[in-house]
Amino acid sequence: MSRAYWIVGSGRMGLSLGSVLATSEGTSEVLLVGRRERAPEHSVLRQPVARYTHGFPGPPARGTRVLLAVPDGAITEVAAGVAALGAPGERCVALHLSGAQPAGILAPLAERGYAIGSLHPLQTVADPQSGAERLRDAFFTFEGDSEARGAAAEIVEAAEGRLLELHAADKPRYHAACVFASNYVVACAAVATRLLAEAVSISQEEAARALQPLWRGAVQNLDQLGITRALTGPVARGDVETLRGHLAVLDADTRELYRQLALRALDLSRQLGLDAAVADAIEAELRA
Ligand SMILES: NC(=O)c1ccc[n+]([C@@H]2O[C@H](COP(=O)([O-])OP(=O)(O)OC[C@H]3O[C@@H](n4cnc5c(N)ncnc54)[C@H](OP(=O)(O)O)[C@@H]3O)[C@@H](O)[C@H]2O)c1
Repeated sequence: MSRAYWIVGSGRMGLSLGSVLATSEGTSEVLLVGRRERAPEHSVLRQPVARYTHGFPGPPARGTRVLLAVPDGAITEVAAGVAALGAPGERCVALHLSGAQPAGILAPLAERGYAIGSLHPLQTVADPQSGAERLRDAFFTFEGDSEARGAAAEIVEAAEGRLLELHAADKPRYHAACVFASNYVVACAAVATRLLAEAVSISQEEAARALQPLWRGAVQNLDQLGITRALTGPVARGDVETLRGHLAVLDADTRELYRQLALRALDLSRQLGLDAAVADAIEAELRA
């Protein structure tokens, strides 16, 4: 069966998913719809089934899957724009890609006859040139109509990914999980870079380079050993003196962040079998 896709928004995720779909067997068309006159410079547009159009060509034909790959704050406006194109052909599907917004924000499209859903890639894509590779094997979460689920499953299959389903009410909790796993890892990296640069009197760039093997090692440990066994460091070792030394030199904001993260590390350390009296002493120090 041949499948036609419209991807509205030629940013990081739109181009990355476009590449996955344009090289997938069964795709007859990938139409990238953008608001700029010039097509983006991206390898997806060298695929025979892919092309770029400035603005919408008219309502989509029967069976078209319309992916709204625009920032979360623009989804409502873009959905209204697609709805204003008029009635789509039969069995069209509209999916947005936000992890935070419910499928229900596509209600104007449901009223037009689209099946609606949200399909969120559990992956971070900062560079669209390598985005397709990043999406392979990724997990995706779906929420929405049962008719839209089939289209979502085909997209996930094209990425050789895995599909998880969730309810709209659980999206904020779900998205908070994603933010911890991705954005706040970056935020922690920024704190570490600043402290190292200050301690060793080097630039932020040098500090970031020096920390890279440590970040890679931590992620590899997570991958190879699982969360609990990946934890090393003073909390896992029960080293109260070292923790006290850290708390003594950090500014108030960083100390608060450190305390909260150390308490989470302490939970893991207890599970790992840290002596209960030592764990209690650490907790008292962190909550002082
Ligand atoms: N990147 C990720 O890691 C990631 C991961 C999971 C999910 N997502 C989701 O994917 C969606 C897109 O994110 P992204 O990272 O690809 O964003 P992005 O790189 O900023 O690209 C957004 C695209 O939307 C276009 N756009 C912005 N406002 C628009 C409007 N009002 N009307 C029409 N087009 C508009 C932009 O066009 P111009 O080029 O003209 O500005 C750009 O092509 C979001 O829902 C996001 O939550 C992203």
